[in-house]
Amino acid sequence: MIATSTILFGVLGLALLGVTILSILLWATNPPKARLRTKNEEFYTHATTDKREPFPSLLDDSSTSKPSISISVIVPAYNETARLPAMLDEAHEYLDQRAAKDAAFAYEIIVVDDGSKDGTSKVALDIARNRAKTTKPAEWARKELRVLTLEKNRKKGGAVTQGMLVSRGEKLIFVDADGATKFSDIEKLEKDLDRVAKKGEGVAVGSRAHMVNTEAVVKRSFVRNFLMYGFHTILYILGISSIKDTQCGFKMVTRNAGRKIFPNMHTEGWIFDVEMLLLAMWAGVPIAETPVTWHEVPGTKMSLISDSVVMLLDLFRIRLNYILGIWKIATPRMKSN
Ligand SMILES: *[C@@H]1O[C@H](CO)[C@@H](O)[C@H](O)[C@H]1NC(C)=O
Repeated sequence: MIATSTILFGVLGLALLGVTILSILLWATNPPKARLRTKNEEFYTHATTDKREPFPSLLDDSSTSKPSISISVIVPAYNETARLPAMLDEAHEYLDQRAAKDAAFAYEIIVVDDGSKDGTSKVALDIARNRAKTTKPAEWARKELRVLTLEKNRKKGGAVTQGMLVSRGEKLIFVDADGATKFSDIEKLEKDLDRVAKKGEGVAVGSRAHMVNTEAVVKRSFVRNFLMYGFHTILYILGISSIKDTQCGFKMVTRNAGRKIFPNMHTEGWIFDVEMLLLAMWAGVPIAETPVTWHEVPGTKMSLISDSVVMLLDLFRIRLNYILGIWKIATPRMKSN
């Protein structure tokens, strides 16, 4: 005879398990929707005229019109007044050299101020105004610096996505504001992108995987490296084993690939790179992994333990929502002009 108490405990245990699983499912499959852009976030201040101009859309061009510039550089920036100017200097120096050599080369930099509290937008806009002063208007059109000021913080993934959605380039790249990656390595990504792209679709991810045994990585703390290996193991289980470094803040996409990826993004946190790569993989977009020169820069905005936990939960959430078909991948509808 089974004692009544055993049955009772069994039933209680099962009920508890059920409730737990149900609440995890409800939590994971009910992520807050990315909020729409506010009215102010649809405009930028033109550095020469000081007028508020509407941003274009990644989906604007009709299929016959060409993208208007060669490269869009998206710089997500939260409280970056200290590090941003040096990063922009390096970027401008490199991009201006290319523009001087090649009359067909045009670029834009879009600083996405992610709801900063330290005046990041003003610092970026002042840099734009100073440059615009010494640049002829026709030249400025090839070298624009625009600032997208998000009124509320979205986190890095949200900032990158919003920047991509207003970009005009044939190739789109996001670059961390800390200047940890050597900016001129952008050329290496372009080469790989041109090599792997099919039907104008491709992704090139900057990678620090080649540095694993070098000083820059070995000198990092034991906890950091332990977390890195743990993270890679989880990615392996999730099916992204082909890419060794998913988290480097230096990734380039062709415009056509960007259109398939960014309108479909849900994840706004640190782990957004993984959703980006999954979307590319599922859409059959070829991905290249390009070794880049990278050095650790002090002042990271990531908190080691709490952000790792959030990243893990977000990974789980991404996977579950796609497996259950709650997040669907839409083919972008082009808005023809
Ligand atoms: C951002 O900057 C503001 C103003 O300097 C500061 O109060 C806030 O704590 C900063 N946020 C973070 C996360 O560093």
